[in-house]
Amino acid sequence: MAQIISGKVISAAVKDRIKAEVQELKQKGITPGLAVIIVGNDPASEVYVASKERACAELSMYSEKYALPEQTTEEDLLKLVNELNNRDEIHGILCQLPLPKHINEKTILDAISPLKDVDAFHPQNVGKIMIGDYDFLPCTPAGIMEMLKYSYIDPSGKHCVVIGRSNIVGKPMAMLMLHANATVTICHSKTTNLKEITKQADILVAAVGRANFVTADMVKPGAVVIDVGMNRPNGKLCGDVNFSEVEPIASAITPVPGGVGPMTISMLMQNTLAAARLKLK
Ligand code: GUN
Repeated sequence: MAQIISGKVISAAVKDRIKAEVQELKQKGITPGLAVIIVGNDPASEVYVASKERACAELSMYSEKYALPEQTTEEDLLKLVNELNNRDEIHGILCQLPLPKHINEKTILDAISPLKDVDAFHPQNVGKIMIGDYDFLPCTPAGIMEMLKYSYIDPSGKHCVVIGRSNIVGKPMAMLMLHANATVTICHSKTTNLKEITKQADILVAAVGRANFVTADMVKPGAVVIDVGMNRPNGKLCGDVNFSEVEPIASAITPVPGGVGPMTISMLMQNTLAAARLKLK
């Protein structure tokens, strides 16, 4: 029986801390403000954006939502980003991905001021993370590190295997594990002996985007298993890990839903607070 690492419980604790820090900052005359941009009508994105707005309200932060039509031009979106870059009451800017195909994601992400880049997607922030000197950490990997810390799981000296090499999760996850002194392996779709590698993991992070991809035969008994998956194969949210198979052999595991997802949002709030605090410098 594995310890269930609850993102619900841990994110509630993180949010309580952030809420108190927001009040302190407000007394100094600064209310952290987040602008969230969504282009088009992707149903999953709409759900994520709604939870981000809810979290801002819960923590007494200021938020603005820009729901733009699918046919918005790259030029118009850039214009909005530039306006938000120049607004004093907006400390964080998040442009929900994916964007419609006619808009170049990189052009938009690069246009967000690195000082307001609460996703930590700007090349300047990505570079700072590599060096270990950063203002913002990418929300999902940061949320995972926070979950491990709250669960007294220290990655130092452990073998961490990350399945997935995306810029949003896999690559920064590997970097944060490295900063925490883990030995890190990144696997991906071209890895030939996947099962042999994942079976060596003390900490296994699944960020594949395929429902129930990680099965019991891929996991070392006693491993810590972190499930980043948000799949909806038949409408119902499920992770990348076959939970019922893997839970009995893992020492600790994150559920889906109620695992990494809520942590990601808390880390976004933490980054928005950090962006607002930059005003004090
Ligand atoms: N789409 C899926 N995950 C994310 C995320 O972390 N940030 C943004 N901006 N878009 C996403």
